[in-house]
Amino acid sequence: MSIDEVATAAASGAAATERFHSDKSPYAAVRDTPPERVNLLAREILGAVHDTIRRHHVTYDEYNAFKAWMIQVGEDGEWPLFLDVWTEHVVEDVNTSHRRGNKGTIEGPYYVPGAPEQGADGVIPMRDGEHGTPLTWEGAITSTDGTPLAGTIELWHADDDGYYSQFAPGIPEWNLRGTFTTGSDGRFRIRTIQPAPYQIPTDGACGALIDAAGWHSWRPAHLHVKVAAEGHEQLTAQLYFPGDAHNDDDIADAVKPELILAPVTQPDGSVHVDYGFVLDPA
Ligand code: DHB
Ligand code: FE
Repeated sequence: MSIDEVATAAASGAAATERFHSDKSPYAAVRDTPPERVNLLAREILGAVHDTIRRHHVTYDEYNAFKAWMIQVGEDGEWPLFLDVWTEHVVEDVNTSHRRGNKGTIEGPYYVPGAPEQGADGVIPMRDGEHGTPLTWEGAITSTDGTPLAGTIELWHADDDGYYSQFAPGIPEWNLRGTFTTGSDGRFRIRTIQPAPYQIPTDGACGALIDAAGWHSWRPAHLHVKVAAEGHEQLTAQLYFPGDAHNDDDIADAVKPELILAPVTQPDGSVHVDYGFVLDPA
């Protein structure tokens, strides 16, 4: 990386904000929400803020620092990061608690649709000599009744330095992003590398909060997936590695025991995992 290619919070934040705007149409889906519900949610959220101010006697200096910090989150483009780290896990929880199939978890800010197709048995796009322990992952997509499903697994993850393509500079566009499509037996075999633990950017507004509150900024190493099959609910999940120092204190609170892999190290030093997905009928 050259000096003008250093990963910064503002650059990855701006990319995440741009991705959110281009990828989703956030207002369209709630256009018919009645004012009663907007009123209820807005009033409760503001009420929770008011309660905190009263309970802890927030000073004007603290209020002004909060205001300046909120402005900075926007200027750094860090709202997607902030919300996905500290809020999304609860939204995910309440919206998937009915499922009998696979547990899911948060999407996070770095999903990009349209990753290159690699078939049912393929290698994720990566650079020549991509750093990191080679990982072979086998499994199947099935329905809750055990029927194998033809479907897709979109996989994206950080590299061995903890950086995501399209959100950090100097990485090829689709690096470590691929779409794997299963046939009627549901089976897939994916070759990639093990990602490194991920540190949320420390030099922006979210980093300033973490620092001021005495928190840490780490997520455990993880593989992101979106799994889809016709007639079934789409699954968004992340898979984790046993023994990671942050599986128990993930800053994004997104680890669930069912999502921790059981990797087996091979004689050549590579790692093999078996993990399949069970989707709920829609
Ligand atoms: C963030 C990054 C991730 O890789 C993730 O899975 C969740 C959140 C973040 O920086 O906000
Ligand atoms: Fe991530």
